[in-house]
Amino acid sequence: MKNIVVLGSTGSIGKNTLEVARNLKDKFRVIGLSSNSRWELLSEQIEEFKPRYVALNNSQLAGKIKSSFPDNQVKILTGNNCLEEIVLHEEVDVVVSAVVGAVGLPAAIATVQQGKTLALANKESLVMAGHIVMSLAKKNQILPVDSEHSAIFQSLQSGKRSEIKRVIITASGGPFYDLPADKLPDVSPAQALKHPTWQMGQKITIDSATLMNKALEIIEARWLFDLNVEQIDVVIHPQSIIHSMVEFCDGSVIAQMGMPDMKVPIQYALTYPERMSLSVQPLNLSSIGSLTFKKPDMEKFPALRLGYQAAREGGTMGATLNAANEVAVQAFLNGQIKFTEIASSVEKVINNHHYIKNPCLEDILSADAWARQETKKCLM
Ligand SMILES: NC(=O)c1ccc[n+]([C@@H]2O[C@H](COP(=O)([O-])OP(=O)(O)OC[C@H]3O[C@@H](n4cnc5c(N)ncnc54)[C@H](OP(=O)(O)O)[C@@H]3O)[C@@H](O)[C@H]2O)c1
Repeated sequence: MKNIVVLGSTGSIGKNTLEVARNLKDKFRVIGLSSNSRWELLSEQIEEFKPRYVALNNSQLAGKIKSSFPDNQVKILTGNNCLEEIVLHEEVDVVVSAVVGAVGLPAAIATVQQGKTLALANKESLVMAGHIVMSLAKKNQILPVDSEHSAIFQSLQSGKRSEIKRVIITASGGPFYDLPADKLPDVSPAQALKHPTWQMGQKITIDSATLMNKALEIIEARWLFDLNVEQIDVVIHPQSIIHSMVEFCDGSVIAQMGMPDMKVPIQYALTYPERMSLSVQPLNLSSIGSLTFKKPDMEKFPALRLGYQAAREGGTMGATLNAANEVAVQAFLNGQIKFTEIASSVEKVINNHHYIKNPCLEDILSADAWARQETKKCLM
């Protein structure tokens, strides 16, 4: 029996994780949950899973939870460090980091420092500080939840690290891949939130539409699998059936496939190195008919080019790119900027930033704060 904490339990990955845990009750005990604003859903989750700890950074909302659970069955943690505090409890074995954004970084660091397993959906932790997080982690202590990275992780089991030629990350292309470039400035947040193949939280759905999600995934893969940027290719694959591939030195390409369902990579991260049965829609290739592939268009979707740039330069570039993107995506969702201004503002900010090649955590957090301010200024 393993004790798990789900950070961001009220989000898309968090809810899928709880569904996996619900089906594997004899293997996993959910002892910690966290959310940001959806306290009613969090209350329902507390009711069902009876965790020992709950983290909610907003103290007013934490008060509402406290009044619903008066008899101290659950310890409520609140304040800015509550995500880190929850993972530090001795009885925690596995932390599923399913929060969105830079807020996930301190808890990811605390988890690996404590020697606990980190099932990582929060790619932003590696984008910002991959060199720090990976240097603290032992082999296979961080297990990928992102479907592409889970596919690479699974494909890598067919060969040795020294035999890898390259990895090929697939991208659905999002809802606008075939839209003429001159129509992109006019797409609305509602249109951008309609992803063709995956049901996800708002921020990653917008990132999928700009291809910034793929940019973040290039940086994530670079750190997670210790690759040179030149070993990472991206291919547009609109059906999202092949979740990614690894090409080995003998020309063999191993792919991991399946219907798009995040429960698959979540469960594999939790049960690794074993596989356990899971009720998912079976892959029926003859009914799908064809799997198609295209070269990514980096002129129409410049975010992808920025991802390669940030992955190559390393240092504080990942944190700067990520923070600028978080601010720009929020501005787009608020109707303040056009879709195409997301990538153009991120590009301006990363090209103006004072780059540090070997940053410590403090440098990374300063780059993050600077990029947020600079992006807001640039969008005014
Ligand atoms: N969704 C996917 O299919 C998918 C696939 C691969 C990777 N990922 C990655 O997984 C992470 C989560 O994505 P998602 O789609 O699940 O996002 P989501 O649906 O928006 O959920 C985000 C979760 O984080 C919590 N949260 C938001 N802001 C927070 C803050 N400032 N402090 C503490 N908690 C906060 C939210 O709480 P409230 O609900 O209370 O607001 C929610 O529980 C992202 O890094 C994403 O890139 C997602």
